[in-house]
Parts: sequence; structure tokens; C-alpha cells
Amino acid sequence: MANSNSNPEPSPSDLLEWYDRHARVLPWRVSPQNRALGEVPDPYRVWLSEIMLQQTTVATVKSYFEKFTSLWPSINDLARADREDVLKAWAGLGYYSRARNLKACADIVVEQYGGKFPETVAGLKELPGIGDYTASAIATIAFDQPAAVVDGNVERVLSRIFTVEEAMPKAKKTIKEYQSRLTPLNRAGDYAQAMMDLGATICTPKNPACSLCIWWGDCAAFKLGTQENFPVKAPKKVKPTRYGWAFVAVRADGAVLLRTRPDKGLLGGMTEVPGTSWGEEKPKSPFASAPFQAGWSKRCGVIHHTFTHFHLEVEVVTSMFPMEQAPAKNCWWSAMEDVPDEALPTLMNKMLEAALPGVTKPKL
Ligand code: ADE
Repeated sequence: MANSNSNPEPSPSDLLEWYDRHARVLPWRVSPQNRALGEVPDPYRVWLSEIMLQQTTVATVKSYFEKFTSLWPSINDLARADREDVLKAWAGLGYYSRARNLKACADIVVEQYGGKFPETVAGLKELPGIGDYTASAIATIAFDQPAAVVDGNVERVLSRIFTVEEAMPKAKKTIKEYQSRLTPLNRAGDYAQAMMDLGATICTPKNPACSLCIWWGDCAAFKLGTQENFPVKAPKKVKPTRYGWAFVAVRADGAVLLRTRPDKGLLGGMTEVPGTSWGEEKPKSPFASAPFQAGWSKRCGVIHHTFTHFHLEVEVVTSMFPMEQAPAKNCWWSAMEDVPDEALPTLMNKMLEAALPGVTKPKL
């Protein structure tokens, strides 16, 4: 591909030198110094971190990564774990199909691959939850295969260096071609991580620190002063709003009524507060979906939550029940002290907090 700007090509070895001095310390990472001394990354930790980092920030992932690796230090441990425990440990990270695929993938790697991950992009893509990006990232970081790794950080860096005028996501193909051209045969894993670090710490979305950038002299956007215009974004689609009601049933001893969501679909397999379905209109007869016919007179407020494709507004109501109240169909009473350990997504925690402040927080 011709470089349409008359810039010199950025040098991967300059970036690697920068990385040797400035690599972020991350719990799943082997530092470039230790890598040079022969330490190899653990594919299990690389895979786990990459699945967690899909759609989630490094800052949020760190504590989940520590929790998972202390509960399940190896792929064999994760394959032996109960799926329910894995969903519980994942609760709060979002995009719950990732947790279901994580467990399915661990089971397959242990049962069918003898506990060893495939080392190629094609082999990795056969596994649940591993798409193009994740396969390239694992092959490159864990096995030093020179695959072109392109995440949001890399898209930003390269769209600026080469002033890629196409809008996202159409520009992805062009950016991947640039990344293929730049990825070195030697130290491909460090190079991919260096690109991520450059994007995360220097070539940031707002106010990039261009004066500190190792590649400033090679950056077409910097020369024009247009770096913040890249990557070019497609116009945002307006998200619709959906509406629903949630019923927080509280037993006399403080236990709350919960149930499991269907395996397929949004928040699949996770735990929820019983409620109506979520529709484009406010529910006309919400009480028909209540777990018990009861007073439900205490209104706790409206919860606002945003998913990838829609905004959600849920009216939360609560009611008290005696100890002898049997759980509604498919539901269970969760004792107050067990609630923080249930597989409750953030949205459900918000609903419970509206009715019973503090109930989702672990007691010290
Ligand atoms: N984002 C996605 N994968 C990453 C990694 N391995 N290191 C840092 N940030 C990342």
C-alpha cells in the first residue's frame, strides 16, 4: 500500500525502544525486560485478560483479573469450576456472553486440546468467544506470532499517523493493512503491546501528548494539527429507550427474591430481580408480571441504564413478605448476606440498591 502522505514510515524498532522504557506494568503482562531474559507469557493469563478487556477498560479489568487468577490459577482450574461460580465472579464486568463463552472455551481447551491453547490465529478462532481481534492478540502476545493486532488504541494511533480519512468502522480494513505492514517478525508481542500502550498513554482520544510521542515526526495528523479529528467517526445512531418495572420482594428477615435469566440473550444466565419485559412503551399492566399479587405500594424510583443498543428506564417497587411466603415459580429467596455474591449484573444491583440501600455491598 502506498503511503499517501510524504511522511517517513514510522519505525517499529523506535517504538520498541520506547516500550522498553515505558511499558505499563499490568498483572497479565511479562515486562519487556523479563521477556528478553526468556520468560514466556502464560497463554491462559493472556487469553483471560484479552476476554476481559473486550469492551472494558484496563482499570476495571485489573481487580477482576486478580480475582479470577486467584480463584482459578490455571485453565484446568477454570474448567473444573462450576459455571454458576464463574458467572458470580464475572458479575459487574458486563457483556455476560463473554463469561459464558469463557467457561465454554476453558472446557474445550481442557477436554479437546489437552489444556493447551492453539498457537495460530486460525486455531484460536475455532474457540468460543475468540474472534479476529482476540485471536490475533493471543497469537501475538502469548506466542509471538506476527499477526496484525488492531484494537481501539491501535486504530487511533494509525489513523492519525496515516491520516486515514475513511470513517470507522469502514476504516478498519485500511488500518489493519497498515498494522500488518508495520508488525515486526521479531518481538511481535511486545510491538502489539507497545502500540496499545502508546494509544492508552500518549496518543489519547483528547489532548494527546504529541510532544512526548516517539513517532511525532512520522505523524501526518500532527503535522497538520488535526490529530483529534482521527479516527473519523460515523454519525452516531440514536438509541431507543425501553421501559419496564422491577419488583423487589423483601422477606421479613431481609432475604430478597431473585431468579435466573434465560441462557440466551441479553444478560443471559445471570441473576435478576423479577419484573416485566422491557418494551418500547411503558407497561400498561405491570402488576400482571409481579412475582406475587401484593401491595407493591412503595415506589423506590426509576433506574436509568444504557446498553449497547438501547437506554432502559425501570420503575422499581418493593413490598414486604412474611417468613412463610414460598418463593414464586423459578425464584429463590437470597439471604441478605448472600446477595453481594449472587451473579447480579450492575443494572440489577442498581434496582436492589434503590429498594434496600447497601444490600449489594459486602459486609466487612
Ligand atoms: N487492551 C486490550 N488488550 C490489552 C493488553 N494486552 N494490554 C493492554 N491493553 C489492552
